[in-house]
Amino acid sequence: MELSVCFIILSLLCYPLPLKGNPNVSPFPSNFLFGTASSSYQFEGAFLSDGKGLNNWDIFTHNPGNIIDGSNGDIAVDHYHRYQEDLDLMQHLGVNSYRFSISWARILPKGRFGSVNKAGIMHYNNLINTLLLKGIQPFVSLTHYDIPQELENRYGAWLSPHVQEDFKYYADICFKYFGDRVKYWTTFNEPNVAVIRGYRTGIYPPSRCSSTFGNCTNGDSEKEAFIAAHNIILSHAAAVDVYRTKYQKQQGGSIGIVMNAAWYEPISNSLENKQAAERAQAFYMNWFLEPIIMGKYPEVMQEILGSNLPAFSNHDQGKLKSTGLDFIGINHYTSFYIRDCMFSVCEQKPGAGTSKTEGFVLRTSTKDGVSIGEPTALDWLYVYPQGMEKILTYIKERYNNIPMFITENGFCENDRSGKGLTEESLNDVKRVEYISGYLDAIAEALRKGADIRGYFLWSLLDNFEWTMGFTVRFGLHHVDSTTLKRTPRTSATWYRQFIANHTAPEILMPKHVSGSHQTQHFNTI
Ligand SMILES: *[C@@H]1O[C@H](CO)[C@@H](O)[C@H](O)[C@H]1NC(C)=O
Ligand SMILES: *[C@@H]1O[C@H](CO)[C@@H](O)[C@H](O)[C@H]1NC(C)=O
Repeated sequence: MELSVCFIILSLLCYPLPLKGNPNVSPFPSNFLFGTASSSYQFEGAFLSDGKGLNNWDIFTHNPGNIIDGSNGDIAVDHYHRYQEDLDLMQHLGVNSYRFSISWARILPKGRFGSVNKAGIMHYNNLINTLLLKGIQPFVSLTHYDIPQELENRYGAWLSPHVQEDFKYYADICFKYFGDRVKYWTTFNEPNVAVIRGYRTGIYPPSRCSSTFGNCTNGDSEKEAFIAAHNIILSHAAAVDVYRTKYQKQQGGSIGIVMNAAWYEPISNSLENKQAAERAQAFYMNWFLEPIIMGKYPEVMQEILGSNLPAFSNHDQGKLKSTGLDFIGINHYTSFYIRDCMFSVCEQKPGAGTSKTEGFVLRTSTKDGVSIGEPTALDWLYVYPQGMEKILTYIKERYNNIPMFITENGFCENDRSGKGLTEESLNDVKRVEYISGYLDAIAEALRKGADIRGYFLWSLLDNFEWTMGFTVRFGLHHVDSTTLKRTPRTSATWYRQFIANHTAPEILMPKHVSGSHQTQHFNTI
């Protein structure tokens, strides 16, 4: 009691009023989450350990030809067995949060058609407890692309409404077992990427597409991505409903979704190209966010797609609007130019976005032969930090300044030759420049009033980069492909300094006390 009175007085005395707008004061609130991000399939390995069931990525990577270097996530970076060491690395960085995902097939090897795997529960309990002992908040995705293969085999997973029941069942178990300690939940990671690559271009499991879009044996690129997305949106609502009705009050956490969010720059100032850039956001990000937040698909999608876009029943709409979201997680890496293909003729390149299914827009990284930013090892990743501020501002304005977390952002280097640890590979100045530029852009958005509450760098370690296998490296730490030894890069030292410079000492400033679910938990860090 005395302590809290004292605290209030101290806070009032010390609260630096001219904080906003002063360029010498850190714009990052003292309760801002700084962390690194990972996902189960890319990090854990241990693909058959302790009763885990097979998931869609286990099956997919074991099919020859799907992964560029023929690798898989059987061992990945063995985070499942080495998490203690990895958490020590995090502690050394000084992060106060860790974003990871739970492997669904580790908890429910056969979905709701089998029993709960106790060893899986125990693993995540150990992980969570170790994090909390180190003062690191768990920030947990229920699924990050990987789902039990059983659901694919039984009913075609996301193509069937049955999946809503499975996801709800799984989410309930996670809230029940972990929700006393996990205060940040996200339902899905980048469902837009998952359905576009899984059901339109077919380069991710379940490898479904039409011949005009890719090389698959089955599928319908013009319809199935929308059906899968529809079931994901309703699965999200079902899980959030369970959280709101059964857990949120006593557990006191918050729940959101993570979207891949690119910035789309109109290639010229013409009205057509500006509208096309807006259409590109509709067909990529608002496709999910608008139904979840407002209970309907973007108008322009309905107009263009007609009956190829599933419709929400009145009951669904009510459910969506009443469940909603507490925050939006944003995975942002890069930006593109957008050219209109509705009023002007574009070259028809499958997957480039020019078709009706993709909203009649051409997504390109170059304008008059000049790329939007410095190229990197991935053909889609160009360095354009201004895009970070622009996408944050866009989301802030469109969704009424809903709390946002940057759930991923990071830089990759090529290691196609697998030459391993070199002086050069440890001195990653390009990564430092990238992160520094993007964090400056976030700082600018914060100064302009965006409600941004955290930043998760992808990633602590080099890891399994989906179809690129181990040929690209995203880590603050180099990971040796044979010994799996972790070695810090220059960027690790830099991030550590950055966090130290922007973490206010001792006094907790009452900045974000305005009625959100999160606030109370920041103070427990
Ligand atoms: C399409 O897939 C088949 C079987 O997986 C493969 O043999 C063929 O080379 C692929 N074609 C192209 C153009 O990638
Ligand atoms: C941290 O602050 C020190 C002292 O102002 C400065 O020299 C250094 O460049 C800063 N580092 C980072 C990564 O912000």
